[in-house]
Amino acid sequence: MFTEASLYSFEEYQDTAKWLMSQTKNRPKVAIICGSGLGGLAEMLDDKNVFPYKDIPRFPTSTVVGHEGQLVFGKLNGHECVCMQGRFHFYEGYNIHTVTYPVRVFFLLGVEILIVTNAAGGLNGSYSVGDIMLIKDHINMPGFAGQNPLCGHNEPRFGVRFPCMSDAYDRELRALAKETAEEHGCGSFFQEGVYCMLAGPTYETVAECRALQKLGADVVGMSTVPEVVVARHCGLRVLGLSLITNKVVIDYDSSEKANHEEVLKTTKHRATDLQRLISQLISKL
Ligand SMILES: *[C@@H]1O[C@H](CO)[C@@H](O)[C@H](O)[C@H]1NC(C)=O
Repeated sequence: MFTEASLYSFEEYQDTAKWLMSQTKNRPKVAIICGSGLGGLAEMLDDKNVFPYKDIPRFPTSTVVGHEGQLVFGKLNGHECVCMQGRFHFYEGYNIHTVTYPVRVFFLLGVEILIVTNAAGGLNGSYSVGDIMLIKDHINMPGFAGQNPLCGHNEPRFGVRFPCMSDAYDRELRALAKETAEEHGCGSFFQEGVYCMLAGPTYETVAECRALQKLGADVVGMSTVPEVVVARHCGLRVLGLSLITNKVVIDYDSSEKANHEEVLKTTKHRATDLQRLISQLISKL
């Protein structure tokens, strides 16, 4: 797919950011994207300012019934932040530029750190369901196939034409996350590894899982990478956390099947640990 230009002009992102700044006094330095079943983090904020996506000028709106989505400004553990409760997935049919629209708005709001969370399937045999994985690196499969959110005209006010990705996941923030996990008794279910994004919405075949393992991926999911690419382009520091909600099927004789209900059930259980971890981490930034 070729885009003549990027879908949105600099002024459009600016319109959204200016409107938000006129509506809230919050000036967060940290933005958090809540993954599937991890929206509870936004509920933990104090002094909330809530904006349903449909009320924010030029902001993408969810087409899926029951997935309204909202931007929540407030204080987490005393620190100002903004949470995306509900993200835009490529598999829902959004253009890749639409998926990442909020990240550039965060940048224009003055955000410096982006925390991304997601639910992912474990590929690494030593991972268990319920583990939390700190993302060390990613494999951008849609990018391999021409779906990179930076394709099209480059806007230098956001970043350079050919941005570096070898340092996508901030080393200092990762060290801080590991330290926090240890301090709060999460060490026994805390991993660090590589997240691979596929477009979805199908779960992986057995052959695909085996291929991804050989490529060096530890978990697989259907989000996060486009947002990280755009965040790094405009200089945001990134921290990523995956909750392992299922183990992928790697054996042809297995009668197990990936299903969304299993994912939601596990997420509910460990989501609280993950949310607490992020809240404790924020107070160290
Ligand atoms: C799987 O995870 C373990 C524990 O984090 C790690 O040591 C190993 O390198 C990972 N990869 C593979 C292919 O086992």
